[in-house]
Amino acid sequence: MEDKKEKLPGTRIQWYPGHMAKTRKQIEQDLKLVDVVIELLDARIPKSSRNPEINKLINNKKKIILLNKADMADNETNKKWVEFFSKEAPTILTDSKTGRNIDKVSKKIEEIMADEISRQAARGRINKTIRVMIVGIPNVGKSSFINRIAKKNSLEVGNKPGVTKAKQWIRIGKNQELLDTPGVLWPKFESNEVALNLAFTGTIKDDIIERVEIAYELLKVLMRDYRKNILERYKISEEEMLEVENLSNSVYELMKLIGQKRGAIVSGKIIDDEKVARIIIEDFRSTKLGNITLEKP
Ligand code: G4P
Repeated sequence: MEDKKEKLPGTRIQWYPGHMAKTRKQIEQDLKLVDVVIELLDARIPKSSRNPEINKLINNKKKIILLNKADMADNETNKKWVEFFSKEAPTILTDSKTGRNIDKVSKKIEEIMADEISRQAARGRINKTIRVMIVGIPNVGKSSFINRIAKKNSLEVGNKPGVTKAKQWIRIGKNQELLDTPGVLWPKFESNEVALNLAFTGTIKDDIIERVEIAYELLKVLMRDYRKNILERYKISEEEMLEVENLSNSVYELMKLIGQKRGAIVSGKIIDDEKVARIIIEDFRSTKLGNITLEKP
């Protein structure tokens, strides 16, 4: 069984090839019911949080891309990603925790469906309901998004006889309904870099890749792209940082320095690697290290 698993067995859901095939089938079925697909990505790792087959799966269906958790990501890079993805589909920065920009989604759906609606109207079909579904890999915020949008709008519209039994739809705008269960897609399994990005953001459980390794690799990226954030968060002076950076294993030396600053020490002077690792990972995930985007367009 073990060797049949995909390379990254640690995502919150276990993705076996059989499971992936089943998921693909289910989503293909749900897609038949909808006019628009909302693809949810994690704004901190827009590339790594993308399912590799998404466009093949949804084929020619109209799509909107949401860069969710935009509140946790770096504002400047957010703008660049919007520009990048907008070439492919309308792209919106959202925060499903507070609901920021969620109301823009329904407006955007209306926009991209305008031509279709007029065509239908010309044929005498007015007020056609536009059906929408949301897809994305685990942990990007699909449930949060659905809960948010459900709260903002009226409650579920109930079963639709003749559509599919037990499908629940949530009204999200004038003549718009959202499928209340998201399409949960498998993540990319393609490279070490992707695996690490998924580990940094908590999509892969911490015990799959060792926590100390996750923290080490995260710190490496932060030293390169968010040096200032490290200095601020751990009250490290420029001199201290330069000293560390001049050492041969600078990343590990920085981990040790953070350990000292934070009192993550065992038996006198030895740094508790596991504890420092937890601190760094937790500070990143809770944005105590600031707004950080790990991938640039
Ligand atoms: P999923 O359905 O795609 O698997 O994701 P889910 O909504 O369960 O969200 C995963 C985690 O991400 C949750 O945190 C959720 O609160 C958080 N989250 C979702 N969207 C956003 C967002 O736009 N901004 C921020 N800051 N967080 C977001 P959790 O730690 O698992 O739970 P909790 O913090 O809600 O208790």
